[in-house]
Amino acid sequence: MIEVRDLHRKYAPRDVHALRGVSFDVEEGQRFGIVGESGSGKSTLVRLLAALDRPTSGTVSFDGRRIDNLPERRLGFLRSSMQIVFQDPMGSLDPRMRVRDIISEPLGRRSPLRVAELLEAVGLPADAAARYPHQFSGGQRQRISIARALAPNPRVLLADEPVSALDVSVRKQILDLLTRLVAEFSLTLVFVSHDLGVVRHVCDRVAVMRRGEIVELGDVEEVYETPRHEYTRELLAAAPDLRAELARLSGGSADDA
Ligand SMILES: Nc1ncnc2c1ncn2[C@@H]1O[C@H](COP(=O)(O)OP(=O)(O)OP(=O)(O)O)[C@@H](O)[C@H]1O
Ligand SMILES: [Mg+2]
Repeated sequence: MIEVRDLHRKYAPRDVHALRGVSFDVEEGQRFGIVGESGSGKSTLVRLLAALDRPTSGTVSFDGRRIDNLPERRLGFLRSSMQIVFQDPMGSLDPRMRVRDIISEPLGRRSPLRVAELLEAVGLPADAAARYPHQFSGGQRQRISIARALAPNPRVLLADEPVSALDVSVRKQILDLLTRLVAEFSLTLVFVSHDLGVVRHVCDRVAVMRRGEIVELGDVEEVYETPRHEYTRELLAAAPDLRAELARLSGGSADDA
């Protein structure tokens, strides 16, 4: 479904080489994780997948069609079929808009029925529609972002560190929600995290990135059980034991989200 070939991205003016020859495929229905430390190029890659930015060289194709070189006016099909959930829901939600307008925006029209349906899907009360983002907790705001992303019935969801800005107590709820919605709506998921433990919880395949390159690519369990690259081993050693963390959390409070 998504084909990435030898992707490079350099940023002017200091020629930061953020991506250095990245290639991979994402199959339809896959939950594809991208993991790596800060600055490894994950968000740069996500922006290129969504054609929000252009590569310095290399190609990105969606359903066999090049998207890296299309003018914006010909990207309409991609804008609805691919949606992004960002790390910081406060930064990505317009504070002056009511929730119903935030969710309706990608539809290009008001649709109270669709808004109600989406609020229910993400576990928010119907009266959330008339309120503003600042009236919600961090976890609830991320639910609003997810509802907005789902509004145009996308086929692909790109999630760039969707729980990193949230309290630990809320993370599992948002991850579970994402996982459930991805299954319910048969979405293809590209999920970015610096935490290999979280990726294991959510994804079936994973690319490990370091300094703009993919150093390891494979099925999540395989990479987790028998990491081949030294850097993957370091990431694993640094990752908190998610199972233990989740076990602790499920006994903890669940009031925020
Ligand atoms: N617009 C930009 N202009 C110049 N340099 C940039 C720009 N965006 C990213 N970079 C640089 O490119 C490199 C990769 O950044 P990127 O944001 O893709 O990393 P990341 O893996 O998403 O990091 P994080 O985990 O902190 O979000 C970094 O060195 C960053 O400073
Ligand atoms: Mg990033």
